[in-house]
Amino acid sequence: MQHHDDDSISNPCQNPHFDEILQINLKRRELLAGGIGAALVGFFGVPGVSSLTGMRAADAAGTIGPIPPSNGFGGIGFDGIAPNTLANGLVDDVLLPPGYSYEVLYAWGDPIGALGQRPGEPAWRDDASNDSIDQTLQSGDHHDGMHFFPRPGRLGSSRGVLCVNHEYNNQQFLFPDGTANWNLEKVRKSQHAHGVSIVELWRHPRTGRWEVKRPSPFARRIHGNTPMQLTGPAAGDDLLKTDADPTGTRVLGTLNNCANGYTPWGTYLTCEENWNGYFANPTGDVVGVPGDDQKFETLSGQTRYGISQTGFGYRWHEHDDRFRADLNPNEPNRFGYVVEIDPSSPRSMPKKRTALGRCKHENCEHVVAGSGQVVLYTGDDERNEYIYKFVTTGSYNPNNRRANMDLLDEGTLYVAKFNGDNTGVWIPLTPATSGLETWSQAEICIKTRQAADAVGATMMDRPEWISANPSAPANVYCTLTNNSRRGTTPESSHTPDGLNNAGSARPPVDAANPRGDDGSPSGNAYGHIIRWHEDGDDSTSTTFTWDIFVLAGDPDKTEERLQGNVNGDLFNSPDGLWFDSAGRLWIQTDATTNALSYATGGVNENIGTNQMLCADPASGEIRRFLTGPLGSEVTGVTGTPDRKTLFVNLQHPGEGGSSSAANPTAVSDWPDRGARPRSATIVITRDNGGEIGGL
Ligand code: FEO
Ligand code: CA
Ligand code: CA
Ligand code: CA
Repeated sequence: MQHHDDDSISNPCQNPHFDEILQINLKRRELLAGGIGAALVGFFGVPGVSSLTGMRAADAAGTIGPIPPSNGFGGIGFDGIAPNTLANGLVDDVLLPPGYSYEVLYAWGDPIGALGQRPGEPAWRDDASNDSIDQTLQSGDHHDGMHFFPRPGRLGSSRGVLCVNHEYNNQQFLFPDGTANWNLEKVRKSQHAHGVSIVELWRHPRTGRWEVKRPSPFARRIHGNTPMQLTGPAAGDDLLKTDADPTGTRVLGTLNNCANGYTPWGTYLTCEENWNGYFANPTGDVVGVPGDDQKFETLSGQTRYGISQTGFGYRWHEHDDRFRADLNPNEPNRFGYVVEIDPSSPRSMPKKRTALGRCKHENCEHVVAGSGQVVLYTGDDERNEYIYKFVTTGSYNPNNRRANMDLLDEGTLYVAKFNGDNTGVWIPLTPATSGLETWSQAEICIKTRQAADAVGATMMDRPEWISANPSAPANVYCTLTNNSRRGTTPESSHTPDGLNNAGSARPPVDAANPRGDDGSPSGNAYGHIIRWHEDGDDSTSTTFTWDIFVLAGDPDKTEERLQGNVNGDLFNSPDGLWFDSAGRLWIQTDATTNALSYATGGVNENIGTNQMLCADPASGEIRRFLTGPLGSEVTGVTGTPDRKTLFVNLQHPGEGGSSSAANPTAVSDWPDRGARPRSATIVITRDNGGEIGGL
């Protein structure tokens, strides 16, 4: 448990030179051999993989502006592999091109290596009988976005700290008996399986194999009950106050940690996505607790974010009133943020940055603009929601880490409008914008969806990850995974009270979201990737041009919504999206994971299990690099600075089909044969020691 925010003692020494950082750190490590949990100075005073900077823009002409003329990495250096389909044997494993290998590095339930624990404790028990306390010292479940923070200097590609998101859990795998005998202990274990892992990694000096280094002073679990701070314009607002926290500035936990970001000053950003599903409002009212004199969130405000009478089935509200949205109407307002964590300071308190708005954040990509201002992009992953950008007021100071630590509290939040002529506008979400005159900035940061509704932003086909091209950072790509509610009802179905994603609303297609119902009501079934170019190569610009990078899908399909224009290997439902530092664009998919749909020749018969592909942004060529085990989603990717080690997450193997608490291996027993399936981080290397994806 973290007891206080000790930033003041964690960074007493600013901006040491690389060697100095290393020396300080080595000295620290000697001290830490004694087992004290002191703060770690300047371990990540420099960015991980090279931070994007607006000053490195290429100048070639392209569809939407300067797309780099050559890919900068010499072409994709592997042949695309076959899809993992029924016809190809439906292999319950990770498959890679010849010459590549993987090992499992860190799976749900593995000990983090916390100081003070005996070696290997608390050990994973494959009957899932570890309790809620064990879970605070073990890997969370459902690995998602992650980032590798390398050691500075020459050790950077063999040692560092990995931050991993744990998005959610499947109750049938989390407990030996599933949801039977449901009680508070089970609720706590489920809460503790969410959040973030911080673990130290090293390539073992003797074996050369990547391992979690245990014990490590960096090892830390942040979970659904970890104290954190609400900061920025909404902090302290009445709508964030609860009986437990009359200040509106302290909250327990981060939830549904989907994808991620990181900052040039070495902090990790974890994004709260489907947090609404943990809350339930069984009475359908906002009554508060007796004697309450607080200003309450309204029921329609809860509905706009998808809070329902039952929630998603996590059943936390049955034993933890904090998740009763009728009794604690403002508690849900304390979720839905981008959360900043300093992994170099194990006792620091995570900060929920309200300035970036409240929604179902997928990830949070940054670019340092030419002005030095930091630009952050984030999508709200729900059908017919929006794409946002935040521009800091202050500038990044590469020479003073502490000066950057609260940069994300002040700036301008924008929402995107994509016009039919391939231009676009970033509309500021401030009281100065027409339609928001009566709003406070705090309200805008809490009811961000409603504010975006009021200014006429463009409803998108589920914005997932956003990534900027390191060779031309004004070029930004976003996966639009699919949209089962893109159809034919008129624009008027878009109202400020929640119809974007409710009832029968099926907004019509538009230029940026061009596929919808065409005879069968499944909307844009296969998704696409859109990209935009900030005007003037300036990431702070309020105007841009855009085009569609690729329509995912299968050219053999006759229905428009299923037909793609992929130049290369087929995929659907793009989700994870990440540029490596050489400019390769990696795509990860999240299509249906019901193994039966492969077995019965469903819509995925030519595409197979979820997968990861490599795209050349200059030529548009796409090749399949990895296919996942049965029932898994491929989500989360990061690597070492030398690009010779890639870390990838496999989430929820075994999900769907007939898997149950009684028969957890019905769909998959990856990665431990014969045992229940587990989400895991894998490490991928090349047998010849070369660059991943390289020639
Ligand atoms: Fe957690 Fe939108 O994926
Ligand atoms: Ca995702
Ligand atoms: Ca998804
Ligand atoms: Ca998913």
